[in-house]
Amino acid sequence: ASDVYKRQEMYDNWEELENSIVNCKKCKLCTGRRNIVFGEGNKEADLMFIGEGPGADEDKEGIPFVGRAGQLMNKAFQGLGIDRSKVYIANVVKCRPPGNRVPEVDEAKACLDYLRNQVILVKPKIIVLLGSTALKNILGNEYGITATRGKWIEKGEITYMPTWHPAALLRDENKKIEFWRDLKEVVEKYNSISSLSLIHISE
Ligand code: URA
Repeated sequence: ASDVYKRQEMYDNWEELENSIVNCKKCKLCTGRRNIVFGEGNKEADLMFIGEGPGADEDKEGIPFVGRAGQLMNKAFQGLGIDRSKVYIANVVKCRPPGNRVPEVDEAKACLDYLRNQVILVKPKIIVLLGSTALKNILGNEYGITATRGKWIEKGEITYMPTWHPAALLRDENKKIEFWRDLKEVVEKYNSISSLSLIHISE
């Protein structure tokens, strides 16, 4: 029965998927949201980033990673030559958890089919899992971020790199260094397997 449910919930195009989310009331986070934060970027990217969920700024703008954590991530992107528009960015939950708390199990579960559908449509070769929430929800609860960050994990067609959530970098200089190191590795692997450039080329 769960298979049938899954098939009904999967969309084979972006328009239908986005339309299905606009009025989502599958979990209690819908009551506090200003905007759904669906995701942003190149829908045919070979590189995808998955965060936890919208914060206040993201909720206001409807765009992922535009607040303080996002600005730190943008800085790393700039330093490493990653054009943000060339990758796809999404979150485990699409609506802001109150007070920026970690999404609860039922909330993540309710939202996860949307994210899975996004991954199916983007077909990335590499996924960067930003922090524990992304890691556990995508790869399983048995994974811990401290033990797995910086290590490649291959599953099916996709190679995963778990790393720190950018918000964790705000409090810890060491994590910032490790985050940069992890993303540098991602860029190197990316360049060895993708024919699409990550670099912004101005005319
Ligand atoms: N933190 C996240 O996990 N996602 C965002 O979009 C912003 C902050």
